This record gives sequence, C-alpha cells and structure tokens, in this order.
Amino acid sequence: MKCLRLAIVAAALGSASLCGAVTKTLDLPPDPFPLKASPLPGYQKALASCVACHSAEYMAYQPPSAARPYWDAMVKRMKTVFKAPLDDADMPAIVDYLARTYGAEQAP
Ligand code: HEC
Repeated sequence: MKCLRLAIVAAALGSASLCGAVTKTLDLPPDPFPLKASPLPGYQKALASCVACHSAEYMAYQPPSAARPYWDAMVKRMKTVFKAPLDDADMPAIVDYLARTYGAEQAP
C-alpha cells in the first residue's frame, strides 16, 4: 500500500522510478492487409496517416468505381469525424493515390 501511494506521488511528479520502473514492450503482428505500394507521393503519406487506426482492408473494400470526390470526402471524413492526424497540405496527394490505386482512376 505504501508502495502504491509512493507510486501515485511518483506519477504526479512525473517519475515512475520509486517502485522500480518496468518497461513493457508489445510486438504487434505484421499488418495482414497493407496498403498497395505505389510510386505516387501520396502512398508514403497514406502509410504515415491512414493505417494507424485500421488496415488498408477498408480502402480495398470501397467500390473500384469510386471517383476522386468520393475519396476526397472520405479523407476529409477521417479527419473531421475520427480526428485522423492529417495535414491539410498532404490531403490532395493522398486523395490522388487513393483514386488511382483503389478507385475509378486505376490503370487497367
Ligand atoms: C484516427 C483513426 C483513423 C485514421 C488515422 C484513419 N481512419 Fe479511416 N476509419 C476510422 C474509423 C473509426 C473507421 C470506421 C468507421 C465506421 O465503422 O463507420 C474508418 C473507416 C474507414 C473507411 C471505410 C469506409 C467508411 O466510411 O467507414 C475507409 C475507406 C477509411 N477509413 C479510409 C481512411 C483513409 C484513406 C485514411 C487516411 C487519410 C484513414 N482512413 C485514416 C478511423 C481512422
């Protein structure tokens, strides 16, 4: 109990060393559904911004006929509704990548 109280004080002081800090690591399995690789600049940005909360399965299950405005709305929805940490400046490149990789602008 004394240790617990000390730990609370330590946490309040921003230090967890009083009762011995334990470092825990968590190994996640490899993503079973990665984004489709692409030389488009939006690919790297999507890797950084679009697969932290869910895998690319969500993108793959969108209609392949989905046109650019659909992807634009989707990216904006991720930011406004789900608070995806997206830089406005990166959004056009991500939309371009999505429309050309998962949507109506895919190469035949
Ligand atoms: C902060 C977490 C978060 C990030 C980051 C995020 N999403 Fe999502 N996304 C969600 C959630 C939550 C749902 C599930 C919504 C639901 O079930 O209705 C979702 C659903 C989707 C769907 C499925 C269609 C739909 O409307 O539900 C697509 C496609 C999608 N996201 C694309 C993206 C793209 C593209 C990005 C990057 C620009 C992105 N997401 C980044 C949280 C996120």
